Amino acid sequence: MPIYNDIVMEHFMNPRNVGELENPDGIGTYGSPVCGDMMQITIKVVDEVIVDAKFKTFGCGSAIASSSMATEMIIGKTIDEALAITNKEIVSELGGLPAVKIHCSVLADHAIKNAIFDYANKQVKTYKGLEGYDPDEDADEQDIMEETGCTGPSCRG
Ligand code: FES
Repeated sequence: MPIYNDIVMEHFMNPRNVGELENPDGIGTYGSPVCGDMMQITIKVVDEVIVDAKFKTFGCGSAIASSSMATEMIIGKTIDEALAITNKEIVSELGGLPAVKIHCSVLADHAIKNAIFDYANKQVKTYKGLEGYDPDEDADEQDIMEETGCTGPSCRG
């Protein structure tokens, strides 16, 4: 049974920024090819800065904690800064996740990028971090294993 640290437990028990923004500037959803769980992130952007973000997650406790932390991390950041956030940084801010749960943080990472991609399309803007990005393309399970540093079959759980 995975052991969660206090930061993860705190964000799971008291998640920040839960819900959906009214009239968001960008909406991003992402379904995990590893477990099938889903996440939605909505963002509000003013002068290239993400001023608000909310999430809805149909997933496990690690996904909820990752979403909560991810929304806290992007609020106040510029679009470019938010695009640069990786799932590894989300995991690091959470103080770590059990290896079998690292893939849950990928949901938040991809949902953020999809929300920014939606914003960019609506504003007809381009960002360096989105070059060649396809929001409909499922991340390859193998890529996730490599991205997250998880190499064992237990990470599929
Ligand atoms: S997001 Fe699916 S198991 Fe965590």
